[in-house]
Amino acid sequence: MSKVTIAIPADFILGAAASAWQTEGWSGKKPGQDSYLDLWYKQDRHVWHNGYGPAVATDFIHRYAEDVALMKQAGLTHYRTSINWSRFLLDYEQVIVDEEYASYIDNFLDEMLRQGIEPMICLEHYELPAYLLETYGGWQSKHVVELFVGYAEKVFARYAGKVKRWFSFNEPIVVQTRVYLDALRYPYEQNTDKWMQWNHHKILATARLVQLFEQQGYRRDGGSLGVILNPEVTYARSSAPHDQKAAHIYDLFYNRVFLDPLLLGVYPAELIELLRLHGVEWHYDEQELDIIRRYPVHEVGINLYYPHRVKAPSRQWNEHTPFHPAYYYEPFELPGRRMNTSRGWEINPRIVYDMAQRMNRDYPDMPWFIAENGMGIENEARFKNAEGEIQDDYRIDFIAEHLYWALKAREEGARCLGYMLWAFTDNVSPMNAFKNRYGLIEIDLQQQLRRQPKKSAAWFARLSAARTLAL
Ligand code: BG6
Repeated sequence: MSKVTIAIPADFILGAAASAWQTEGWSGKKPGQDSYLDLWYKQDRHVWHNGYGPAVATDFIHRYAEDVALMKQAGLTHYRTSINWSRFLLDYEQVIVDEEYASYIDNFLDEMLRQGIEPMICLEHYELPAYLLETYGGWQSKHVVELFVGYAEKVFARYAGKVKRWFSFNEPIVVQTRVYLDALRYPYEQNTDKWMQWNHHKILATARLVQLFEQQGYRRDGGSLGVILNPEVTYARSSAPHDQKAAHIYDLFYNRVFLDPLLLGVYPAELIELLRLHGVEWHYDEQELDIIRRYPVHEVGINLYYPHRVKAPSRQWNEHTPFHPAYYYEPFELPGRRMNTSRGWEINPRIVYDMAQRMNRDYPDMPWFIAENGMGIENEARFKNAEGEIQDDYRIDFIAEHLYWALKAREEGARCLGYMLWAFTDNVSPMNAFKNRYGLIEIDLQQQLRRQPKKSAAWFARLSAARTLAL
């Protein structure tokens, strides 16, 4: 018997997310249309999963009609994905559209609208064209900011009649953090100057998109331009000042670095001062800061999976190596924490409520929603019943517990617009191809990518129809 029930407001989004690169596959891709991730996967066969990866992905490009029908069946009100910048254009400098790819996007959006599911579209979900990385060093260059604006202008002009909610980037901090802060990916270069320059140019690019969007009348027509961020709810080991300071600085470098300029229009003064103190060099001018000040985003999506825990650092930083924010903190593992061992992430649904409190306190004017939350599990086929349906009760519990805190926060006045699950179907993770499965719908790699709804899909459909969460 359920102990708690909570109503889901009529306008509350109950959706799911994905991205172009993680689902579409390379069918129809022309030479020169590689993205940054395509290059990585082409160079390193280790990231593929038993030979499966982005080449076919979930073959969404051919199977979108079947998938949209399944979205309808699962009760999704909204679906978020991206347009792949590296494939939308044939020439990134002259902004020449690939008509074949662009027509597929038209058809897919039409299919969603026909089924009554609202599309939410991101312009970059790790899909930086490889050409721009190789030619200009990617987001190191101000020219790339202008090319991104040119690309967005074409996209808005073509699809604004079909899509109202747009987003500049998904998790804009991630690539340069892996590449230039942690030196975990090619070119394995620890360079905090480049890290901050990429951050700034993605922030500037977002503000330029908001400016364009408003000046061209899309806002007046009821559209919005937002961004999808991944701020981490950061808990200190203890209330001792040195642990609190570690959490404070972590929050500054990984959360507020994007939240403050994009939502409030200004970089945190304390961050700028710390970067100066440690000799981090990045270029910006008054005109750019003015654009950032005048054009904050209209809404923000927040990807939330697990809490981040830190403590004061126990080691001395070597002053001769480039500055890294980890000078100020160390990770801390809470003993006895609840874990998703497949992904190595702590499970703590309360982070949703704590994030809501933070939004109320620091960004009270900004509407927000959970843009991703979900559970990746290895080898899910072991949970199939006799009919071949994956019995993913753990996913149902995970969604219900996180959704509960979002609804409670909303009841108490948070500007939380909704909840989106990662992911609708299983798909290709940038880090581990098909190893961890996140979907409501299984993609059976042994059966020509057959779509098989998991137990959670029927549960989600009932939730959406009843508009009441019981747990
Ligand atoms: C999010 C990304 O951070 O996490 C997705 O926006 C990603 O693209 C998802 O797939 C799950 O992480 P992972 O590494 O397990 O795929």
